Amino acid sequence: MSLYVALEGIEGTGKSTLSRLLADALRQEGHEVLTVREPGGTPAAESIRHVLLSADYQVEPWTEALLFAAQRAQLAAEVIRPALAGGAIVIGDRSVYSSLAYQGIGRGLGLDEVRTVNEAGLAGTWPDLVLWMALDAETGLAREDVEDRISAEGLEFLDVVARAYEHLAGLEPDRFVRVDAGRSIEEVAAEALKQIRSLI
Ligand code: TYD
Repeated sequence: MSLYVALEGIEGTGKSTLSRLLADALRQEGHEVLTVREPGGTPAAESIRHVLLSADYQVEPWTEALLFAAQRAQLAAEVIRPALAGGAIVIGDRSVYSSLAYQGIGRGLGLDEVRTVNEAGLAGTWPDLVLWMALDAETGLAREDVEDRISAEGLEFLDVVARAYEHLAGLEPDRFVRVDAGRSIEEVAAEALKQIRSLI
């Protein structure tokens, strides 16, 4: 059985640790699991990641949105789609919903517009379940370890993005599950696993 689970939320919510914990637990239960992180995950997509996150470049909002969509199209075609076709569970550290939150709402480009360019490149590869790691912007920023060009926008931007996730969850209540990321990572992982198991 194939399942595409996306971990979403602002910086500092523990998505990458959670991804590891979930993959370990599900593999122990006998599932084939693939973890991916965005932006990146293929050689071409990692090159695009560098352009997106390096502090050396000035990047316009639409350039940013299109490059995120481009690296995602590559990752979907090269890695995610084949894994799902082979029956794996794919756990994504970020997904198209990051673009809806950060570029669609955060940068003000519009949800419909950003969704449309992403849909064009994704050929139907879309998360079945979004585990939204809910956390306030101040806590997230304080927990963040490595700053990049986008997280360097600071508290006000991150606060808009945190609220954007709340909005997105309201729009798609069947796909989104809110997970309180203010708790210990073990508690978060236990709840996330419960949600994934209910879909397997
Ligand atoms: P990531 O490496 O996941 O950083 P973190 O571990 O701090 O969450 O993501 C890098 C940055 O890119 C992060 O600030 C969020 C941003 N981002 C977008 O703005 N749009 C997107 O579509 C994605 C995938 C990430």
